Amino acid sequence: MTPPKKISLTRYLVEQQRIDGLIPGQLRLLLEVVARACKSISHAVNKGALGGVLGSADSENVQGEIQKKLDIIANEVLIEANEWGGHLAGMASEEMDAIYVVPNRYPKGEYLLLFDPLDGSSNIDVNVSIGTIFSVLHMPEGDRGVDEGDFLQPGNRQVAAGYCVYGPQTTLVLTVGDGVVMFTLDREQGSFVLTQENVRIPADTQEFAINMSNMRHWAPPVRRYIDECLAGKEGPRGKDFNMRWIASMVADVHRILTRGGVFMYPWDQREPNKPGKLRLMYEANPMAWLIEQAGGAATNGKERILDIQPTKLHERVSVILGSKNEVERVTSYHSGL
Ligand code: AHG
Ligand code: MN
Ligand code: MN
Repeated sequence: MTPPKKISLTRYLVEQQRIDGLIPGQLRLLLEVVARACKSISHAVNKGALGGVLGSADSENVQGEIQKKLDIIANEVLIEANEWGGHLAGMASEEMDAIYVVPNRYPKGEYLLLFDPLDGSSNIDVNVSIGTIFSVLHMPEGDRGVDEGDFLQPGNRQVAAGYCVYGPQTTLVLTVGDGVVMFTLDREQGSFVLTQENVRIPADTQEFAINMSNMRHWAPPVRRYIDECLAGKEGPRGKDFNMRWIASMVADVHRILTRGGVFMYPWDQREPNKPGKLRLMYEANPMAWLIEQAGGAATNGKERILDIQPTKLHERVSVILGSKNEVERVTSYHSGL
Protein backbone atom coordinates (compact mmCIF):
# COMPACT_ATOMS: atom_id res chain seq x y z
CA MET A 1 0.00 0.00 0.00
CA THR A 2 1.39 3.44 -0.88
CA PRO A 3 1.65 5.67 2.18
CA PRO A 4 -0.61 8.73 2.19
CA LYS A 5 0.96 11.71 0.42
CA LYS A 6 2.51 14.37 2.58
CA ILE A 7 1.01 17.73 1.65
CA SER A 8 3.36 20.57 2.49
CA LEU A 9 2.09 24.04 3.39
CA THR A 10 3.54 25.30 0.10
CA ARG A 11 1.63 22.72 -1.92
CA TYR A 12 -1.56 23.32 0.06
CA LEU A 13 -1.40 27.07 -0.56
CA VAL A 14 -0.58 26.64 -4.27
CA GLU A 15 -3.55 24.30 -4.67
CA GLN A 16 -5.85 26.65 -2.79
CA GLN A 17 -4.74 29.44 -5.11
CA ARG A 18 -5.07 27.31 -8.23
CA ILE A 19 -8.23 25.34 -7.54
CA ASP A 20 -10.41 27.65 -5.53
CA GLY A 21 -8.87 31.05 -6.24
CA LEU A 22 -9.16 31.51 -2.47
CA ILE A 23 -5.65 32.80 -1.96
CA PRO A 24 -4.28 35.55 -4.21
CA GLY A 25 -0.57 35.23 -5.10
CA GLN A 26 0.59 38.00 -2.76
CA LEU A 27 -1.32 36.52 0.16
CA ARG A 28 0.18 33.11 -0.55
CA LEU A 29 3.66 34.60 -0.44
CA LEU A 30 2.83 36.43 2.78
CA LEU A 31 1.62 33.24 4.48
CA GLU A 32 4.71 31.35 3.34
CA VAL A 33 6.93 34.06 4.78
CA VAL A 34 5.06 34.11 8.11
CA ALA A 35 5.39 30.31 8.28
CA ARG A 36 9.13 30.57 7.58
CA ALA A 37 9.49 33.14 10.36
CA CYS A 38 7.59 30.84 12.74
CA LYS A 39 9.95 28.01 11.83
CA SER A 40 12.87 30.20 12.76
CA ILE A 41 11.22 31.24 16.06
CA SER A 42 10.51 27.57 16.75
CA HIS A 43 14.22 26.78 16.39
CA ALA A 44 15.15 29.58 18.79
CA VAL A 45 12.53 28.37 21.30
CA ASN A 46 13.86 24.82 21.03
CA LYS A 47 17.41 25.84 21.78
CA GLY A 48 16.30 27.53 24.99
CA ALA A 49 19.16 28.06 27.43
CA LEU A 50 21.62 26.65 24.87
CA GLY A 51 20.80 29.53 22.53
CA GLY A 52 20.88 32.16 25.26
CA VAL A 53 17.27 33.13 24.51
CA LEU A 54 15.74 32.72 27.97
CA GLY A 55 15.20 35.44 30.56
CA SER A 56 14.26 39.06 30.64
CA ALA A 57 15.45 41.77 28.24
CA ASP A 58 15.17 44.45 30.95
CA SER A 59 12.96 46.63 28.74
CA GLU A 60 9.25 47.49 28.71
CA ASN A 61 6.79 47.35 25.80
CA VAL A 62 3.97 49.80 25.12
CA GLN A 63 1.66 47.79 27.39
CA GLY A 64 4.02 48.42 30.31
CA GLU A 65 5.03 44.76 30.42
CA ILE A 66 8.65 43.67 30.93
CA GLN A 67 9.86 42.18 27.68
CA LYS A 68 11.52 38.79 27.56
CA LYS A 69 14.46 38.22 25.23
CA LEU A 70 12.28 35.96 23.10
CA ASP A 71 9.56 38.65 22.75
CA ILE A 72 12.15 40.85 21.08
CA ILE A 73 13.81 38.10 19.05
CA ALA A 74 10.46 36.86 17.69
CA ASN A 75 9.42 40.41 16.82
CA GLU A 76 12.66 40.99 14.90
CA VAL A 77 12.40 37.68 13.07
CA LEU A 78 8.88 38.53 11.87
CA ILE A 79 9.80 42.06 10.78
CA GLU A 80 12.98 41.01 8.96
CA ALA A 81 11.26 38.11 7.20
CA ASN A 82 8.32 40.21 6.02
CA GLU A 83 9.64 43.66 5.15
CA TRP A 84 11.38 42.95 1.83
CA GLY A 85 9.00 40.59 -0.02
CA GLY A 86 6.80 43.28 -1.57
CA HIS A 87 3.58 41.77 -0.18
CA LEU A 88 3.07 44.20 2.72
CA ALA A 89 2.43 47.90 3.23
CA GLY A 90 2.95 47.77 6.99
CA MET A 91 3.05 45.74 10.17
CA ALA A 92 1.90 46.15 13.76
CA SER A 93 3.01 44.19 16.79
CA GLU A 94 2.36 43.86 20.50
CA GLU A 95 6.02 44.71 20.99
CA MET A 96 6.01 47.98 19.01
CA ASP A 97 4.33 51.16 20.13
CA ALA A 98 3.74 52.47 16.59
CA ILE A 99 3.05 50.73 13.30
CA TYR A 100 6.00 49.62 11.18
CA VAL A 101 5.89 51.07 7.69
CA VAL A 102 7.73 49.01 5.07
CA PRO A 103 10.89 51.04 4.25
CA ASN A 104 10.96 52.90 0.94
CA ARG A 105 13.81 50.78 -0.42
CA TYR A 106 11.36 47.86 -0.72
CA PRO A 107 8.27 47.59 -2.93
CA LYS A 108 4.95 47.99 -1.08
CA GLY A 109 2.20 45.40 -1.22
CA GLU A 110 -1.53 45.46 -0.54
CA TYR A 111 -1.62 43.74 2.86
CA LEU A 112 -1.18 44.68 6.51
CA LEU A 113 0.20 42.15 8.99
CA LEU A 114 -0.47 42.28 12.73
CA PHE A 115 1.08 39.94 15.26
CA ASP A 116 1.70 38.93 18.81
CA PRO A 117 5.24 37.66 18.15
CA LEU A 118 5.47 35.63 21.34
CA ASP A 119 2.29 34.75 23.18
CA GLY A 120 2.54 33.28 26.67
CA SER A 121 5.73 35.07 27.68
CA SER A 122 5.42 33.95 31.31
CA ASN A 123 5.84 30.35 30.08
CA ILE A 124 9.08 30.83 28.11
CA ASP A 125 11.49 30.21 30.96
CA VAL A 126 9.51 27.30 32.41
CA ASN A 127 9.46 25.28 29.17
CA VAL A 128 5.68 25.37 28.66
CA SER A 129 3.96 25.87 25.27
CA ILE A 130 4.09 29.36 23.77
CA GLY A 131 3.27 30.68 20.32
CA THR A 132 2.94 33.37 17.66
CA ILE A 133 -0.44 34.83 16.65
CA PHE A 134 -1.03 36.70 13.37
CA SER A 135 -3.78 38.52 11.51
CA VAL A 136 -3.81 39.79 7.91
CA LEU A 137 -5.88 42.72 6.64
CA HIS A 138 -6.17 44.41 3.27
CA MET A 139 -4.65 47.85 3.00
CA PRO A 140 -7.63 50.16 2.36
CA GLU A 141 -7.91 51.48 -1.22
CA GLY A 142 -5.92 54.54 -2.29
CA ASP A 143 -2.24 55.07 -2.93
CA ARG A 144 -1.31 57.29 0.03
CA GLY A 145 1.12 56.16 2.72
CA VAL A 146 0.04 53.73 5.40
CA ASP A 147 -0.93 55.04 8.83
CA GLU A 148 -2.39 53.60 12.05
CA GLY A 149 -5.94 54.33 10.88
CA ASP A 150 -5.53 51.81 8.05
CA PHE A 151 -5.11 49.06 10.63
CA LEU A 152 -8.24 49.92 12.61
CA GLN A 153 -10.54 47.50 10.82
CA PRO A 154 -12.92 45.10 12.58
CA GLY A 155 -11.94 41.43 12.71
CA ASN A 156 -14.62 40.53 10.17
CA ARG A 157 -12.38 42.17 7.55
CA GLN A 158 -9.45 39.79 8.15
CA VAL A 159 -8.31 37.94 5.03
CA ALA A 160 -6.14 35.41 6.86
CA ALA A 161 -5.43 34.58 10.50
CA GLY A 162 -3.57 31.95 12.41
CA TYR A 163 -1.10 31.00 15.04
CA CYS A 164 1.89 28.76 15.50
CA VAL A 165 2.16 26.89 18.78
CA TYR A 166 5.63 25.89 20.00
CA GLY A 167 4.83 22.89 22.16
CA PRO A 168 5.77 19.21 22.11
CA GLN A 169 5.13 19.68 18.39
CA THR A 170 5.29 22.93 16.44
CA THR A 171 1.88 23.33 14.81
CA LEU A 172 0.72 26.06 12.44
CA VAL A 173 -3.02 26.68 12.38
CA LEU A 174 -4.54 28.77 9.62
CA THR A 175 -7.76 30.14 8.19
CA VAL A 176 -8.37 32.15 5.04
CA GLY A 177 -12.14 32.05 5.58
CA ASP A 178 -12.69 28.52 4.32
CA GLY A 179 -12.40 26.48 7.52
CA VAL A 180 -9.40 25.76 9.71
CA VAL A 181 -6.37 23.67 8.76
CA MET A 182 -3.42 22.47 10.84
CA PHE A 183 0.16 21.80 9.75
CA THR A 184 2.83 20.10 11.85
CA LEU A 185 6.50 21.05 11.47
CA ASP A 186 8.53 18.13 10.12
CA ARG A 187 11.98 19.05 11.39
CA GLU A 188 13.79 16.55 9.17
CA GLN A 189 12.17 17.93 6.03
CA GLY A 190 12.18 21.48 7.35
CA SER A 191 8.60 22.00 6.21
CA PHE A 192 5.09 22.25 7.61
CA VAL A 193 2.99 19.21 6.67
CA LEU A 194 -0.81 19.18 6.55
CA THR A 195 -2.04 17.11 9.50
CA GLN A 196 -5.66 18.18 9.89
CA GLU A 197 -8.28 19.69 7.62
CA ASN A 198 -11.77 20.88 8.44
CA VAL A 199 -11.12 21.35 12.18
CA ARG A 200 -14.44 21.42 14.09
CA ILE A 201 -15.18 22.36 17.71
CA PRO A 202 -17.97 20.44 19.46
CA ALA A 203 -20.87 22.76 20.41
CA ASP A 204 -20.95 21.40 23.97
CA THR A 205 -18.13 20.96 26.43
CA GLN A 206 -17.37 20.10 30.04
CA GLU A 207 -14.06 21.96 30.21
CA PHE A 208 -13.41 25.63 30.94
CA ALA A 209 -10.27 27.77 30.97
CA ILE A 210 -10.00 30.89 33.11
CA ASN A 211 -7.47 32.30 35.57
CA MET A 212 -9.33 31.36 38.77
CA SER A 213 -7.04 33.49 40.95
CA ASN A 214 -8.95 36.54 39.66
CA MET A 215 -12.33 35.15 40.74
CA ARG A 216 -13.01 37.72 43.44
CA HIS A 217 -12.62 40.53 40.87
CA TRP A 218 -14.98 39.19 38.17
CA ALA A 219 -18.34 40.65 37.18
CA PRO A 220 -21.45 38.72 38.37
CA PRO A 221 -22.22 37.00 35.01
CA VAL A 222 -18.77 35.37 34.85
CA ARG A 223 -18.95 34.39 38.54
CA ARG A 224 -22.36 32.87 37.98
CA TYR A 225 -21.17 30.81 35.01
CA ILE A 226 -18.10 29.47 36.82
CA ASP A 227 -20.03 28.86 40.06
CA GLU A 228 -22.51 26.77 38.09
CA CYS A 229 -19.70 24.78 36.45
CA LEU A 230 -18.05 24.19 39.84
CA ALA A 231 -21.34 22.96 41.34
CA GLY A 232 -21.02 19.95 39.00
CA LYS A 233 -23.56 17.13 38.75
CA GLU A 234 -25.50 18.36 41.77
CA GLY A 235 -25.72 21.94 40.45
CA PRO A 236 -27.93 23.60 37.82
CA ARG A 237 -25.81 22.28 34.93
CA GLY A 238 -26.25 18.66 36.03
CA LYS A 239 -22.74 17.67 34.94
CA ASP A 240 -19.16 17.87 36.20
CA PHE A 241 -16.69 20.28 34.62
CA ASN A 242 -12.94 20.04 34.28
CA MET A 243 -10.58 23.04 34.29
CA ARG A 244 -7.39 23.84 32.35
CA TRP A 245 -5.38 27.09 32.34
CA ILE A 246 -2.07 27.14 30.49
CA ALA A 247 -1.55 30.94 30.58
CA SER A 248 -0.63 30.91 26.88
CA MET A 249 -3.69 31.82 24.84
CA VAL A 250 -2.29 29.92 21.85
CA ALA A 251 -2.04 26.71 23.85
CA ASP A 252 -5.50 27.11 25.41
CA VAL A 253 -7.06 27.88 22.01
CA HIS A 254 -5.20 24.97 20.45
CA ARG A 255 -6.71 22.61 23.03
CA ILE A 256 -10.17 24.03 22.34
CA LEU A 257 -9.75 23.59 18.57
CA THR A 258 -8.67 20.01 19.26
CA ARG A 259 -11.27 18.84 21.79
CA GLY A 260 -13.61 21.73 22.60
CA GLY A 261 -13.89 23.90 25.68
CA VAL A 262 -14.50 27.49 26.65
CA PHE A 263 -11.79 30.11 27.26
CA MET A 264 -12.36 33.36 29.13
CA TYR A 265 -10.25 36.36 29.96
CA PRO A 266 -12.97 38.70 31.24
CA TRP A 267 -13.08 42.29 32.40
CA ASP A 268 -12.41 42.61 36.11
CA GLN A 269 -13.00 45.32 38.67
CA ARG A 270 -9.37 46.04 39.53
CA GLU A 271 -9.07 48.31 36.49
CA PRO A 272 -12.67 49.14 35.59
CA ASN A 273 -11.73 51.27 32.58
CA LYS A 274 -9.71 48.48 31.00
CA PRO A 275 -12.01 46.16 29.01
CA GLY A 276 -9.80 43.11 29.58
CA LYS A 277 -6.22 41.89 29.41
CA LEU A 278 -6.01 40.56 25.88
CA ARG A 279 -5.46 42.75 22.85
CA LEU A 280 -8.19 42.98 20.23
CA MET A 281 -6.24 43.34 17.02
CA TYR A 282 -3.54 40.68 17.28
CA GLU A 283 -4.84 38.28 19.93
CA ALA A 284 -8.66 38.29 20.11
CA ASN A 285 -9.49 38.92 16.43
CA PRO A 286 -7.36 36.19 14.84
CA MET A 287 -8.37 33.67 17.52
CA ALA A 288 -12.06 34.63 17.26
CA TRP A 289 -12.02 34.09 13.51
CA LEU A 290 -10.30 30.69 13.81
CA ILE A 291 -12.80 29.64 16.46
CA GLU A 292 -15.79 30.77 14.37
CA GLN A 293 -14.37 29.07 11.29
CA ALA A 294 -14.26 25.84 13.29
CA GLY A 295 -17.93 26.20 14.31
CA GLY A 296 -17.37 27.88 17.69
CA ALA A 297 -18.24 31.38 18.90
CA ALA A 298 -16.37 34.38 20.33
CA THR A 299 -17.83 37.39 22.15
CA ASN A 300 -16.81 40.05 24.66
CA GLY A 301 -19.92 39.20 26.70
CA LYS A 302 -22.04 41.65 24.76
CA GLU A 303 -21.14 41.42 21.09
CA ARG A 304 -19.32 39.29 18.58
CA ILE A 305 -15.60 40.06 18.84
CA LEU A 306 -15.25 40.19 15.05
CA ASP A 307 -17.80 43.04 14.85
CA ILE A 308 -15.99 45.37 17.27
CA GLN A 309 -14.74 48.53 15.56
CA PRO A 310 -11.24 49.14 16.95
CA THR A 311 -10.29 52.66 17.96
CA LYS A 312 -6.68 52.02 19.02
CA LEU A 313 -3.98 49.67 17.77
CA HIS A 314 -3.27 48.20 21.20
CA GLU A 315 -6.86 48.24 22.45
CA ARG A 316 -7.86 45.54 24.92
CA VAL A 317 -11.00 43.46 25.03
CA SER A 318 -12.80 40.97 27.24
CA VAL A 319 -12.72 37.51 25.61
CA ILE A 320 -15.10 34.55 25.81
CA LEU A 321 -14.51 31.96 23.10
CA GLY A 322 -14.86 28.29 22.27
CA SER A 323 -17.69 25.76 22.15
CA LYS A 324 -20.75 27.54 20.81
CA ASN A 325 -23.38 26.59 23.36
CA GLU A 326 -21.20 27.54 26.33
CA VAL A 327 -20.14 30.88 24.80
CA GLU A 328 -23.79 31.67 24.09
CA ARG A 329 -24.68 30.79 27.69
CA VAL A 330 -22.03 33.05 29.24
CA THR A 331 -22.99 35.83 26.81
CA SER A 332 -26.68 35.46 27.70
CA TYR A 333 -25.79 35.90 31.40
CA HIS A 334 -24.48 39.37 30.44
CA SER A 335 -27.69 40.52 28.78
CA GLY A 336 -29.66 43.23 30.50
CA LEU A 337 -26.58 44.61 32.26
P1 AHG B 1 1.52 37.80 26.16
O1 AHG B 1 2.54 36.82 26.64
O2 AHG B 1 1.55 37.95 24.65
O3 AHG B 1 1.55 39.12 26.87
O4 AHG B 1 0.06 37.18 26.38
C1 AHG B 1 -0.22 36.52 27.57
C2 AHG B 1 -1.70 36.41 27.71
C3 AHG B 1 -2.32 35.14 27.15
O5 AHG B 1 -1.50 34.38 26.34
C4 AHG B 1 -2.73 34.35 28.35
O6 AHG B 1 -3.95 33.73 28.14
C5 AHG B 1 -2.79 35.35 29.45
O7 AHG B 1 -1.99 36.44 29.09
C6 AHG B 1 -2.30 34.79 30.76
O8 AHG B 1 -2.58 35.70 31.76
P2 AHG B 1 -2.35 35.38 33.31
O9 AHG B 1 -0.87 35.48 33.51
O10 AHG B 1 -3.15 36.46 33.97
O11 AHG B 1 -2.87 34.00 33.58
MN1 MN C 1 -0.29 37.32 23.88
MN1 MN D 1 3.20 38.52 23.36
